[in-house]
Amino acid sequence: MRIDILTLFPQMFQVPFSFGIFKRAIDRKLVSIHLHNIRDYTHDKHHTVDDYPYGGGPGMVLKPEPIFEAVESIKSDIRPEEDVGALPIILLTPQGRLFSQQTAQELSKYSHLILICGHYEGVDERVQEHLVTDEISIGDYVLTGGELPATVVIDAVVRLLPGVLGSETSPLDESHANGLLEYPQYTRPPVYRGWSVPEVLLSGNHAQIAKWRREQVILRTLEHRPDLLDKTNLCLEERQLVERLTSSPKRSQLSLNKEPTE
Ligand code: 6GU
Repeated sequence: MRIDILTLFPQMFQVPFSFGIFKRAIDRKLVSIHLHNIRDYTHDKHHTVDDYPYGGGPGMVLKPEPIFEAVESIKSDIRPEEDVGALPIILLTPQGRLFSQQTAQELSKYSHLILICGHYEGVDERVQEHLVTDEISIGDYVLTGGELPATVVIDAVVRLLPGVLGSETSPLDESHANGLLEYPQYTRPPVYRGWSVPEVLLSGNHAQIAKWRREQVILRTLEHRPDLLDKTNLCLEERQLVERLTSSPKRSQLSLNKEPTE
């Protein structure tokens, strides 16, 4: 996958992609990241990227010309066999659709993405209207720019590309992939500061372990993200478990990481 990033601050992307799984993915040429400074696509002496909003109001607005020209320049040197019409051009903005694991899965199917990092009070609306194909927000809070959101989106997408995670880790078996949260994990020592690892995990009984983990997935999701349960298809056994847990007056006893109460 090729990812082009349009930004006013290319240095913000140096660190996140230089370590661990990401660095390995780049070294193995599973993904290539191309940074473009929007300022390099200006033509005036002062390299102006923003201007006052028409109609007045606070803040500055990113000018359309450098953004259009940067995208057109990227498009002009893509390989002839690539379908330019299908190329997603994504603006990171708080006005966008909410990013999710499903969006990450969708985007991971493309061989090329262009991400535009918005800034200041916004981007000239003609960019949204006539250039971008998608607008993404990473959550209901306001950040100073699209650089961190772009990093989040890229991380979530790239780890889904074939070969990026070691074969030992399956992206299908984790939080949110099935719409629910993950079960709790433990490693050695078996007792730390008097806190024991749940006995079933030391039992070697794989059927019991699988059953415990399924219950924990439901419990944990119920406890932290009940909204996710409404959206997920559960099997009969799982639905019965949810019902038992939500109707039980002793629900607090089943809570994660809590001591039983009287
Ligand atoms: Cl994509 N941009 C900004 N500036 N703030 C955000 C965001 C994006 N997503 C959530 N907050």
